[in-house]
Order: sequence, then structure tokens, then C-alpha cells
Amino acid sequence: MGYREHETYDVVGVGFGPSNLSLAVALNEHRANARGHGISATFFERQPAFGWHRNMLLPSATMQISFLKDLVTFRDPTSSFSFIAYLHASGRLPQFANNQDFFPTREEFHRYLEWAQARVAHSITYGSEVMSIRIPHGANPKSAGHLEIEVQDVTGRGARVINARNVVISTGLVPNMPDGAERDERVWHSSEFLEKYRRMNPGELRRLAVVGAGQSAAEITRFLYDELPHAEVWAIIPSYGYSVADDTPFANQIFDPSAVDDYYYGTEQTREAFWRYHRNTNYSVVDDEVIRDLYRRAYDDEVRGTERLHFLNLTRLSGVKRAGAETRVSLQAGLDGDVYDLDVDALVCATGYEAMEPTGLLGDLDRYCLRDETGRYRVERDYRITTSPELPCGLYLQGGTEHTHGLTSSLLSNIAVRSGEIADSIIASRAKRGVDQAVPVEVGHDGG
Ligand code: FDA
Ligand code: NAP
Repeated sequence: MGYREHETYDVVGVGFGPSNLSLAVALNEHRANARGHGISATFFERQPAFGWHRNMLLPSATMQISFLKDLVTFRDPTSSFSFIAYLHASGRLPQFANNQDFFPTREEFHRYLEWAQARVAHSITYGSEVMSIRIPHGANPKSAGHLEIEVQDVTGRGARVINARNVVISTGLVPNMPDGAERDERVWHSSEFLEKYRRMNPGELRRLAVVGAGQSAAEITRFLYDELPHAEVWAIIPSYGYSVADDTPFANQIFDPSAVDDYYYGTEQTREAFWRYHRNTNYSVVDDEVIRDLYRRAYDDEVRGTERLHFLNLTRLSGVKRAGAETRVSLQAGLDGDVYDLDVDALVCATGYEAMEPTGLLGDLDRYCLRDETGRYRVERDYRITTSPELPCGLYLQGGTEHTHGLTSSLLSNIAVRSGEIADSIIASRAKRGVDQAVPVEVGHDGG
């Protein structure tokens, strides 16, 4: 258990993916330098143990950012929580260097994240879902000075309430299913892929379809083709073919820490230009290597006359009918929009995600949160939601800020710097309140 009853924490973190892990590390490092004046923090995660998109840990899937964009390096290259420190601790630094590759596998990066979270484990409670964030019952938000966070044990062992002066919400992307498709045991979103796939008898899977032309779709299509040599796989692609993710050096600058300022302080036209010119660095695009792998497989099959990988281009899924083991997929093809059906044993919708949406968690608190003319949250440069003056507590977002802070909002590229900025903001606001006396430190002790 990573918290103490009846304490009012400086920070409660909701969700413990890489973003809040990076924040826990930043606060841990602040504590080490603060000589008893550290920030008290505790984090709640609904998964039973640390997991970073576990259902997409496909063999040979690689990271889409350099290993240097780890939890800490861009904020503090001397931190002992870097990917290089992990490699050193694992005895693999020379081998990694010999590999001459900036992009580790997702599996290796996952191991790094697990290693880092183990070193701040005292501040994390797994198997705990945050249900709501609220003002204490009957209290005046200004005088209460803290918020209540209602946490539910996912194994059904009841709920508890934790008090905090600041809350950092980092609950991650929300899976998007296409209209007309409902998830069940044979219709899967990519975010649940491996879990659902492993429940099936592979021999039963002879015809599969994968919807989408993004990285998830391409990786899953390759995986199914390789794992199921007896199966036919249909890739349902809305474009004419997969498009490559632009990770060339000039385009990559949009993920630099300084690009956050350019976006945040830019005009509406500047922000629009970021999206118009650079959406293809991340959305509906695929790494060059995976595109070439897929093309090679299809070509080799054609040479042998054994085609079993079918690319249905300019095609969108428009509906799914399910009955028992039967799954009938309606597809809308080509520019004239002809609709036809395809029968499959399983359908994977690799149809992307919606941005993080904290409104449900905020409940009544939402009325203190200011919104812009299009209804989106106003967010300060330090990632704090702009609130009306009656609410002195801080509500920070890690994710869900693409409209204010740009493309790195949902990615790993900037988490080291962003977490440092949030930590600095919380430390500064505590100093402003004059609460600079020693407070109990709950951020985990470095056991590494
Ligand atoms: P993340 O989604 O990782 O974590 C949120 C956590 O909050 C989850 O563990 C969830 O269980 C928990 N949670 C949600 N609601 C809760 C609640 N109410 N109470 C308690 N816990 C709750 N980006 C990149 O820059 N490079 C890359 O290589 C990749 N690779 C990649 C692969 C795949 C398969 C996907 C789908 C996405 C990526 N991404 C990526 C983008 C991805 O958003 C990013 O890697 C991180 O997951 C962002 O970390 P977060 O901690 O913000 O969210
Ligand atoms: P994505 O890039 O948003 O792609 C979703 C795809 O689904 C798009 O091609 C979209 O087409 C398509 N689509 C949506 N509805 C459809 C419909 N009804 N019919 C046909 N196609 C439909 O999502 P993603 O691939 O899951 O990627 C999300 C994030 O995860 C990205 O940041 C990506 O880099 C990351 N990721 C990383 C890795 C890795 O690190 N190895 C692996 C997987 C994912 P439109 O463009 O027409 O909407």
C-alpha cells in the first residue's frame, strides 16, 4: 500500500503509466535534494501491476522514440533513472551500444519502466481505480484547502477517500471503436489485442480482418500473418496503402521541449500549421520497416502463388453483425461507396484512440474549471487546468492537452520535461502558500 490514511498529500496522481511514473521520479529526486522538505505524493493505478500497453507488446515491436527520451534524461541527464542507467544495472550497456540502434524494442522499454517503478514502489497503490475527485462534503472549496479522491479497490475490497492539495490526472488514451462495431469475444480493439487473442484456439482462427492503417493495425496484421500460417488475413485500409510515419530530423523538431512553447504561445494559425503539416508524424501512419515487412510477405506469397494477405484499400468498416461464432463485417469500398460483406472468425479494430477526458472524474468540480470558446479546458503553461478563484487546489493534466500544448501531449517524447515542470509548479505553489515546513514524505525510497 503506497499511502497513509488521514494524511493530506501535496499530490495524488491518478493513473500510473509512464507519465505519472516520470512525475513520481521527479518528486523522488526533489525529495532527495530537499532535506526533509519533500513533496508528499501518492499514486493510484487500476491495473494490478505496472503495465504499459501490455496487449500490444508484440514480438519485435520497437519504440517510436529514441531511448534518450526516457523518464528523465531530457530533464536531468545525470539522473539514476535513465534508460542508460537501467542498461548498466542490467549488465547490457555494451551490448546495447553494439546494436547501434536508437529504438529499443517495446519489450525492453517495458522492462526499463518496470525497473524504474520498482524504485518508487512505496508511493504506488495498484489495483485501485480513482472514481471521483471532489470538494469535501459541505465544505467551502477555498477554506477546505484540499480535495477528496475516492478510490475503489478493483478486487471489491471497498472504497476509501484520500485527501490532496493537488491532483495530477494521467489516465491515458481512450480506445475508439468505429460506429457499428461493439467489442466482444470476437470483435476486439487493438488495446485488448493479446489478451483476447490468447483466449482463442489458434486453429479456430482461419479468417481474420484488421481495420485501420495506423501503427497498431500494421503491427497486428504482421503478427497474425506470422503466427497463423494457416490463416487468411484481410487488412481493411481507408487510404490507398499504408503511409510512412515521418520521423526525419526536421519534422521531429515538433517533439522538442521548445516546440511546446511555440505551440502554447503561438497564434491559432501557428497551432493549425502544426497539425496540417505534421499530423503524419504520429496519426494514421506506420514505421517504414513494418510497411516493408508487410509488402515483402505479400510479394513472396504472390511469387509462390499462395496469397493469404489481402489489402482492401480505400475501404472503411461500416458495420458488424455477430451471431455465435459468426462475424459478418460490412465494408464500404472505393470512392463510389459500394457496400459488401466479409465473414471472419475474428475482427481487430485498430481504429485509434480519443484523447484523455477527465470530465467524468471531475464531476461537480468541473464547474470550477474554465473552458475556451469551443468548450475545451483552458490549461496553464504548467499543465494546470485554469480554475475559478474559489478553487485554490491544483488540477494538473498529463495528457488531454493537445489543443493547448501540442502533439507531445499523448506521447512519451516530452514526459521528462513535462513532469519536471509540473513538479516545479507544485513546489512553487506550496512555497507561495507558506507551507514550507517539513511534511511527511511519501514518495518511494530509492531501492535501486
Ligand atoms: P498510459 O495510458 O500509459 O497510462 C495511463 C494509466 O492510467 C493506465 O495504466 C490506466 O490503467 C490508468 N488509469 C486510467 N484510469 C484510471 C483511474 N480512474 N484510476 C486509476 N488508474 C487509471 N508514444 C511514444 O511517444 N512512443 C512510443 O513508442 C509509443 N508507443 C505506443 C505503443 C502503443 C501500443 C500505444 C497504444 C501508444 C504508444 N504511444 C507511444 C503513445 C502512448 O500514449 C504513450 O506511450 C504513453 O502510454 C503515455 O503514458 P501515460 O502515462 O500518459 O498514459
Ligand atoms: P491511429 O494512428 O489513430 O490509426 C487509426 C486508424 O484507424 C487510421 O488509419 C484510421 O483511418 C482508421 N480507422 C478508423 N475508423 C475506421 C473505419 N471505420 N474503417 C477503416 N479504418 C478506420 O491509431 P494507432 O495505430 O492505434 O496509433 C495510436 C498511437 O499509438 C500512435 O501514437 C502510434 O504511434 C502509437 N503506437 C505505437 C506503437 C509502437 O510504439 N510500436 C505501436 C502501436 C501504436 P483515418 O485516418 O481515415 O481516420
